[in-house]
Amino acid sequence: MGLVWITVAVLLLFLKFVNCSGTAKEWTYAGAVGQSEWAEFFPDCGGSSQSPINLDTSHTLHDPTLVPVQPLAYNQPGNKPFILSNNGHTVQMTLPRWMGVAGLPLHYSAVQLHLHWGNGVGVATGSEHTINGLSSSAELHIVHYNAEFYANMTEAKTQENGLAVLGVLIEAGEETNQAYGRILNYLDHIRYAGQQVAIPAFDVRLLLPNDLGQYFRYNGSLTTPPCHQSVLWTIFNERVKISHLQLMKLETLLFSSKAEAAEPTALQDNFRVTQPLNNRTVLSSFIHVSAKMYTTGEIIAIVIGSLCGCVGLAVIIRFIVKTIRSTSSWDVLPSIRPAPQHSTKDMAKEPKQDMALKTTSDPTNPEEATPQPET
Ligand SMILES: *[C@@H]1O[C@H](CO)[C@@H](O)[C@H](O)[C@H]1NC(C)=O
Ligand SMILES: *[C@@H]1O[C@H](CO)[C@@H](O)[C@H](O)[C@H]1NC(C)=O
Repeated sequence: MGLVWITVAVLLLFLKFVNCSGTAKEWTYAGAVGQSEWAEFFPDCGGSSQSPINLDTSHTLHDPTLVPVQPLAYNQPGNKPFILSNNGHTVQMTLPRWMGVAGLPLHYSAVQLHLHWGNGVGVATGSEHTINGLSSSAELHIVHYNAEFYANMTEAKTQENGLAVLGVLIEAGEETNQAYGRILNYLDHIRYAGQQVAIPAFDVRLLLPNDLGQYFRYNGSLTTPPCHQSVLWTIFNERVKISHLQLMKLETLLFSSKAEAAEPTALQDNFRVTQPLNNRTVLSSFIHVSAKMYTTGEIIAIVIGSLCGCVGLAVIIRFIVKTIRSTSSWDVLPSIRPAPQHSTKDMAKEPKQDMALKTTSDPTNPEEATPQPET
């Protein structure tokens, strides 16, 4: 009896082990091995320095020593074609090893770039990183490995300081982005997982925003299993625009399933949700103008409010002064009155309150200042 139980237990354990290693590469964004289950199969995914994160500009630390990022040879694509592939999780393009990035603590060499996106329904989602809780429609990642310390990507990706990724937030606009078109125009050649196509090499710098000086920097991880915590992240503050049509192509053309699969599965929503920051610091290379920007309406309201306040205050002061003057005038007047010849013609004709007011409005006038010493 006991032997049977032990056999069953061993068998179950064996099955679980096989299951683990068997499904290890079968991860998805939703479903049985969806992102909430990743940590079960890939322990690093449950680590404390995971990516992506929400970049909360009221909690970033300005570091004036962060210099602009310098792409190296991004504009020297060479004459060999780039290889674009659908790996079932994303569209990926290999980069020549002479490309790299400087302006980081170490020298990093380019490996590949890929994209993350949503499904085109409802509000813009699709980016992995968010700024102040707001998603963009898509995100480009250009992956580099530390060529100073490691022989290749495979070796570097598990190591601290192993990788550096440049992240570009993408949103939809009116104009076609020619540079992104160099990739997106070929998606219909790689609709199914496992397919690849050779595309003409092009200037990769054009995929980046103009301003490479404003960015966020933090230590994090790969955003896909096995989620190694080896990435020095740079997320540019400036977003890049592609057209609505280009975004729609990205969101709808690809499948995460192979061509021979009975039921094709759309490759959509391939973004990981933001992870806890824990006790990490996010640096920014620039000073954020204001965590909370005032809208035009708010500015108008503030200006009008201040004006009303000033006018109101002026009216109150005038009223108080008037009141003080008129009461003191009543006390003073009898002593002035006995000498009617003393006052000038117009002064005598004027009502008492106005006389008091004139005194305050122009105290230097000797004619009106005379009653004052008598009080
Ligand atoms: C990466 O470098 C290691 C160590 O030099 C080597 O053993 C391995 O074969 C290399 N892998 C690839 C994919 O080049
Ligand atoms: C990232 O980690 C390295 C090594 O642990 C550290 O020297 C560096 O200051 C960290 N960078 C940021 C932006 O936190």
